[in-house]
Amino acid sequence: MKQAAENAPLKELDDWDDFVATRYRQGKSEEEFRNYKADANPTVTEFYRQNHAGQTLDFVLRKKAEYCGLNRGKKGIWAMAEYLNTLVDDSDPDTDLTQTEHLLQTAEAIRKDGHPRWFILAGFLHDLGKVLCLYGEPQWAVVGDTFPVGCGYSDQIVFPEFFAANSDSAIPEYRTEYGIYEPNCGLDKVHLSFGHDEYVYQVTRRYVPEEAQYMLRYHSFYPAHRHGAYRHLMNAHDERMFEWVRKFNPYDLYSKGRERPKTQEILPYYQDLVSEFFPDKIDW
Ligand SMILES: [Fe+2]
Ligand SMILES: [Fe+2]
Repeated sequence: MKQAAENAPLKELDDWDDFVATRYRQGKSEEEFRNYKADANPTVTEFYRQNHAGQTLDFVLRKKAEYCGLNRGKKGIWAMAEYLNTLVDDSDPDTDLTQTEHLLQTAEAIRKDGHPRWFILAGFLHDLGKVLCLYGEPQWAVVGDTFPVGCGYSDQIVFPEFFAANSDSAIPEYRTEYGIYEPNCGLDKVHLSFGHDEYVYQVTRRYVPEEAQYMLRYHSFYPAHRHGAYRHLMNAHDERMFEWVRKFNPYDLYSKGRERPKTQEILPYYQDLVSEFFPDKIDW
C-alpha cells in the first residue's frame, strides 16, 4: 500500500532500522554516538520530527484501543509474514532483503550462537508488527525508537528538540520526571510510544515465554536498553528481564549485511518451530 507522501518521509520503513544500526555501529565510542545527526539523512530527520510531534499520550491510548484488542481477524504467523513482504514496493530484489528474510536472518544468527528455541523464535517474530504500516498507519506510528509518554522525555532519546512540537509538552503534569506514573511502577504500567513492538507483543504474548515477550515489546526502547534511561519507572523484575532485551539487541542490529538466508533450506526448521509455539491461526 502506498502511503500519502507526507506520512512516509522514509523511502522504505527499513531506513529507520538502517539508521539505528549505523548509530550503534560496533566499536563506536559514546562520543561518536552523540554525533548521531551526522548519520541521519533529511528523510530520517523528518521521520523523527513527525514521530516526536505525533506520539502523544492521547495518541498512544487511542492506538492501543484500536489494535490491542486484536480485532482484525485470525491469521497464521506464516500468512502474516507473507503479507508483510508486500510492504516494500520499490526495493531492488537483487540486493534488498524481504521482510521475511530479515526475520530469518535475525533468527539464524541467534540459532548459530546456540540459544534456546524460544529465543530463535523471538528473532523470527520480532518485526511482524510492521504490518501496522499495511493497515494504513503512518511510518512514525510503526517504527522509531520508543519512549514513555505522559512523563518527562529523557535526553537519551535522539532528536529531543523535536518534542517541543508534541502537544504533551504544554501539559505541566506530563513534564515532570514521573509524570502520570509512580516511582518504579514497572514498565507494564507505562505507556510507550506506539509502534510495531507493542503490537507484536500483544499478538504473541499468550504463546511465548516472558523473556521473549520482553524482547518483542522493548526491542526498540533504545533509551532504556542501550542508555539506561527510565530506570526510575522500572521495577526489579523489569531490570532482570532487560538482560534478555539487551541480549537480543545485537541480533537485530547486526544481522543485516550477513549473507542472504537460504530460505528453502531452513524453512522446515522454522515451520516446525512456529508450530511448536503457535496454533494454525491467531488473533491479530
Ligand atoms: Fe523492530
Ligand atoms: Fe528488526
